[in-house]
Amino acid sequence: MSLYRLEAEFNGATTREDTRFTYTFYNGSAQPLTGFRVGFSSMTRMADEAVVFGAKLSKAYANYHEFAAPDALVVPAGGSWTFGFESIEHHIPSHRLDGPKSAVLFNGDDVLEVQVGDLICKDLKDTGPLRDYPQGQLDLPLMLQPWPSEVKVDAFCAAPRLFVPDATAAERGAMMRVAGLHARLYPEAREIFRLDDGDMALQFAQGDVAKEAYELSFEGKIIRVTYGDELGLFYALVTLAQLVHGASHAPETFQFPTSGTISDAPRFGWRGGHLDVSRHFYTKDEVTRLIDIMAWAKMNVFQWHLTDDEGWRIEIQAYPELTDIGSVRGPDCAMVGQYAHNAKRYGGYYTQVEARAVVAHAADLHIDIVPEIDIPGHCAAVLLALPYLVDPDEQVNSSKSVQGYPNNALNPAIPETYEFIEKVMTEIADIFPSPYIHVGADEVAEGSWMTSPKAQGLRQSEGLAGTPEIQAYFLRRVQKILRNNGKNLAGWDEVSHGGGVDQEGTLLIAWQNPDLVPALTAQGYRVVASPGQAYYMDMVQSTGWDEPGAQWAGVVPPKQSYDFDPEGDLPAADRGALAGVQACIWTEHIFTRGLFNHLVFPRFYAVAEGGWTPMSQKSWPRFCAISRHMPQL
Ligand code: ACM
Repeated sequence: MSLYRLEAEFNGATTREDTRFTYTFYNGSAQPLTGFRVGFSSMTRMADEAVVFGAKLSKAYANYHEFAAPDALVVPAGGSWTFGFESIEHHIPSHRLDGPKSAVLFNGDDVLEVQVGDLICKDLKDTGPLRDYPQGQLDLPLMLQPWPSEVKVDAFCAAPRLFVPDATAAERGAMMRVAGLHARLYPEAREIFRLDDGDMALQFAQGDVAKEAYELSFEGKIIRVTYGDELGLFYALVTLAQLVHGASHAPETFQFPTSGTISDAPRFGWRGGHLDVSRHFYTKDEVTRLIDIMAWAKMNVFQWHLTDDEGWRIEIQAYPELTDIGSVRGPDCAMVGQYAHNAKRYGGYYTQVEARAVVAHAADLHIDIVPEIDIPGHCAAVLLALPYLVDPDEQVNSSKSVQGYPNNALNPAIPETYEFIEKVMTEIADIFPSPYIHVGADEVAEGSWMTSPKAQGLRQSEGLAGTPEIQAYFLRRVQKILRNNGKNLAGWDEVSHGGGVDQEGTLLIAWQNPDLVPALTAQGYRVVASPGQAYYMDMVQSTGWDEPGAQWAGVVPPKQSYDFDPEGDLPAADRGALAGVQACIWTEHIFTRGLFNHLVFPRFYAVAEGGWTPMSQKSWPRFCAISRHMPQL
């Protein structure tokens, strides 16, 4: 238990130059402290030119700041020390988690955890509302999310036990998969299906409906299930499982139909969920549970953000350094602590055996896993682990990423870069059967490669105007490597910058704003809509200071996620190029399960319904009433 505590206060200024941050360090131990340092990680970063008071800056790297106490200072038992700085690099803080997320005390040879408090702003008397997530209202007593395309039911009963008197092996197998899914998600709940006997019999027929579609006809003690293909069968069984689960788990709210029909099919082919496991690590079991949650919401693509500046999280046999060095950060590691857990070694990675097990689990639930290896930017961990990938003649600190990392891009002019990509992508292609490998390409810092003599040589020989054009040259070479491995290139919208890549087979996730969907489809790209303003799960849900989350893409109330229409003003001729939607779970701010559940739900389910349900069938009150019963991590 920590007996030290750091509290932070912001002066409320509205221009970054005028901001002032005051930190008070409390010594709750029985010993006086002298000659010590305090480190902390805060996404509200000190500007390079900031004026420090009451301390000496001893280290600054990305979000990590470390301050030494003045030489003569003694903080007695029960006493405190105040220090701080004026001027920040980026966003003016607007929420309680915009201050330190964790802190560490270096006292002689001891490395000790320091509690952190919320960032406060004393001048802010009204801290603003918390998120609006109403109780909602149902027209029909059915637990179904996402809502089907057409529901025509008019009589109901209490939760039945469904059984399968006569079925093919494939139908029985699908039933067992869904029964297992339900039992994992709700271990306390009673079963849904039986093979031997029950209250209502399922009669299956593969029939005249579209491939992923299904129809349910409720006829008293019989339910006829017509499905197009194995996906349609799976989705029909998930629908039935949800209906029974709702009626048995919350009988005061939900019942089960005995008469009428449900006809259903997905609106989009790509109903994605993404998880950043670099900023904070999620265990194999947590990832597997998120995949179960996705299957329950009929989502079908999991984008696994496996690498970033803050950690490389997949075993690559050709480069053990990537995980030996690049997967752990902390006081005694090569990688500097960031975000939470600064006082200890923190990290983790998935072995290839573990990753294959997750892939198999997802495939059983008809979920494709798209691995993301984020290049050429977001590569601080790679370049620390494999320093020979840096041009030795490049000026240090000559560019800085939006997350504060200096010179964090792979160099497109170094042959070893392509050897690295070749070997990594070959192993990744072997682990993940997806047709896509996502190569990131986001947020390459302005000015990257401009002081690298090798990159400047490439620029001249290839006639490349600047950073975006060098990036496009690099990505076109990466695209060839992927094609040699039988894979298509997926990436963030910046893949299109500087001339872009061959559009054939390419898929871009449009994240920076909703207008990128029509802009990129007009350029011939296939696009998934994931605008930060609606589908980024780490954005705050209200203006209230006490809401956790980030605000750089704006405030994203659950209703805004729900109401967003990815088609927007997309011309009819380009609609076929919109593959679907994706919820992105970036984890800088998400370092506890409580924060995960608060930020991700119900918005994740809003994206799931956005990907499945026709706009005409959506209902915000109904969504709110049902989403409270959906599973959390
Ligand atoms: C991103 O949010 N940098 C894709």
